[in-house]
Amino acid sequence: METTNAERAGTARRGTTLVVGGTGKTGRRVVERLRSRGMAVRVGSRSGEVPFDWEDRGTWASALREVGSAYVTYYPDVAVPGAADTIGSFAELAVESGVRRLVLLTGRGEEEAQRAEQTLQESCARVGAKASAEWTVVRASWFNQNFSEGFFLEPILAGEVALPADEMPEPFVDADDIADVAVAALTEDGHANRVYEVTGPRLLTFAEAIEEIGRACRRELRYVPISTEAFASALAEQGVPDDLTGLLRYLFTEVLDGRNAHLTDGVRRALGREPRDFADYARDVAATGVWDG
Ligand SMILES: NC(=O)c1ccc[n+]([C@@H]2O[C@H](COP(=O)([O-])OP(=O)(O)OC[C@H]3O[C@@H](n4cnc5c(N)ncnc54)[C@H](OP(=O)(O)O)[C@@H]3O)[C@@H](O)[C@H]2O)c1
Repeated sequence: METTNAERAGTARRGTTLVVGGTGKTGRRVVERLRSRGMAVRVGSRSGEVPFDWEDRGTWASALREVGSAYVTYYPDVAVPGAADTIGSFAELAVESGVRRLVLLTGRGEEEAQRAEQTLQESCARVGAKASAEWTVVRASWFNQNFSEGFFLEPILAGEVALPADEMPEPFVDADDIADVAVAALTEDGHANRVYEVTGPRLLTFAEAIEEIGRACRRELRYVPISTEAFASALAEQGVPDDLTGLLRYLFTEVLDGRNAHLTDGVRRALGREPRDFADYARDVAATGVWDG
């Protein structure tokens, strides 16, 4: 029997919401927002109460038990080869298990990420006559929070950030905006079967972003442009695993080639308001002392 939209929305609202990567940059914020609304949430991660591991399919079914909707973030990165098929398999199991709404976080201008969007959509439709699910894609630019909760924090604390980013501008987006869009898609009607491409409101080069952070936290921060080869060697010296080095190389060379150097209106379309500016992010994070070095 065909499932109606109203039934789907009802099931999604009734069940637990699984947040895969629920301790990560966007997942943690989605968990906080849903819990503050009194919703039942399960954190899907290796350290979750019901452990979930992308690398161990044996953990997926128990994480999906009694789940009505899910926010899905893939780890380490939706751009890595194989991510799309894994996400497709997970989404198919989710729909078979009764999940009626799936919201997937992806990245812009990445072949594997766009393939993952496709496998998500196919899985949501495939179960077809027996059951189907609504999907929403949140396709994000680089997060502001990479500078305060991720890979760039350590160099900022050391006072020097060396990257092979040339002068290419990027519309950094705030993880709080991404979480707001994800929560809207999980809890409201009107976001089904849509792709929200979300960026911040301003294009900034990495050099400009570091300059704004330095100004906000009143520290002398140096941005040093380096070659991709020097970047890869520095990562190897720091003991960064080869696959992560390969991923960063891909992101800085292929993806940061200008294809994403434009703004989009995804935040406004999903939420009816403008995205948060990098300067507001930098001011608020500086006030927490995280960048004090
Ligand atoms: N960062 C960006 O600028 C950016 C931009 C666009 C798109 N994205 C996409 O966003 C996603 C998340 O990236 P992120 O860098 O921001 O990471 P993140 O969300 O901060 O990732 C950490 C989360 O993943 C969980 N995790 C780690 N290994 C896992 C595994 N094997 N199985 C299940 N969960 C695991 C961690 O929990 P445990 O350690 O407890 O398992 C934690 O909850 C990626 O798919 C990426 O492609 C990121």
